[in-house]
Amino acid sequence: MARLNWGMIGGGEGSQIGPAHRISAGLDGHFHLAAGALDVDPARGKAYAEKLGIAPDRAYGNWREMLEGESGRDDRIDLVTVATPNSTHYEITKAFLENGFNVLCEKPMTMTVEEAEDIVETVRNSGKICAVNYGYSGYAMVRHMRAMVARGDLGKVRLVKAEFAHGFHADAADADNPRIRWRYDPAQIGPSAQFADCGIHALHLANFVSGQESQSLSADFISAIDSRTLEDDAMVNVRLDGGAVVRLWTSAVAVGRMHGLGVQVFGEKGGLRWEQEHPNQLYWTPVGGRTEILERGAPDLSPEADRASRVTIGHAEGMPLAFANIYADLAEVISAAKEGRTPDPVAMSYPTAEDGLRSMAAIRSAVDSASGNGAWTDARPPSMRG
Ligand code: NAI
Repeated sequence: MARLNWGMIGGGEGSQIGPAHRISAGLDGHFHLAAGALDVDPARGKAYAEKLGIAPDRAYGNWREMLEGESGRDDRIDLVTVATPNSTHYEITKAFLENGFNVLCEKPMTMTVEEAEDIVETVRNSGKICAVNYGYSGYAMVRHMRAMVARGDLGKVRLVKAEFAHGFHADAADADNPRIRWRYDPAQIGPSAQFADCGIHALHLANFVSGQESQSLSADFISAIDSRTLEDDAMVNVRLDGGAVVRLWTSAVAVGRMHGLGVQVFGEKGGLRWEQEHPNQLYWTPVGGRTEILERGAPDLSPEADRASRVTIGHAEGMPLAFANIYADLAEVISAAKEGRTPDPVAMSYPTAEDGLRSMAAIRSAVDSASGNGAWTDARPPSMRG
């Protein structure tokens, strides 16, 4: 597979979701970050783009410049990710699609249904791809849930319970903090806060795993904190087109809850349960049977789960991020040496050759001990014995 050129709009330095996109797009080496308009501030965006290795002529000051610059190139980007604040998604996504680019847009795709209808129409006319980053559908065991439902393991699906309930906006004293206040401001966020921001992920998962789309719904919104005009907690019942019902709870005031994203599917032959904070395990209970824990990476899962499983069974999903931290430490130390400066002391915790030596000594010591009836044996390398 030839490497594809990739561009980003938004996701500048200090943004919440920009680093996650760069890590994930770079993971397989399929995408090379070739262009970007990364920040609302043009100078900051250009400087950060160059720091990330984007060539100066493709480090753009804003998305319109990027559209013009990339449209005229033979090696134009194959995909652009739109990771800007919500109110800008529609205009940017539409413009890039109309000019023949594939787009991965952050959620929510638009601010209104009318804009979203227009994007779908634009996609059809352009023949290009437009994906939306409901990223939790990428988990291997979520894909396995969907595969189990689709192949009939659960029989007819009766009920889906979906939750995305955290407690990070629960402090009334902090409600006017600008970092939080904009999330409940209709002018910036649209007509819904918590349901649009988090509940929608839970609903997407419910639809994704059940294979059924929403037909009608009944919602109860509250603002648990009086100064908010938009909801910070919602309970939503949804009737799906295949006959199942979704019971969805989303909250920003559920103190003690962390991300709180999870989905359960109950069918006539059994039930499934998955929680994002424990993504490796899927719980399966056949009617009248015992609960079984299906582990990501096990040999007998679906092709959908196998394709989405990146590390072998037993490792946490985030294990490559731990490896990435070793590389980041090495990059800092090597760069510091090249630049003649002292490396950041926090980067000095990568394992060294001395650790390698200690391990070899421990192995030899263990072998000697095991063959000597478990006798206590010096585990230190000869050069480190005091
Ligand atoms: P943020 O406020 O942390 O970062 C936004 C970035 O976009 C900043 O670097 C800012 O300078 C830049 N920016 C703003 N306007 C721009 C413009 N016109 N052109 C170029 N750059 C511009 O926001 P955050 O939290 O990273 O969210 C970005 C989007 O990602 C939102 O739509 C949010 O809903 C979505 N999101 C999605 C998640 C998911 O699970 N799929 C999780 C978190 C956020």
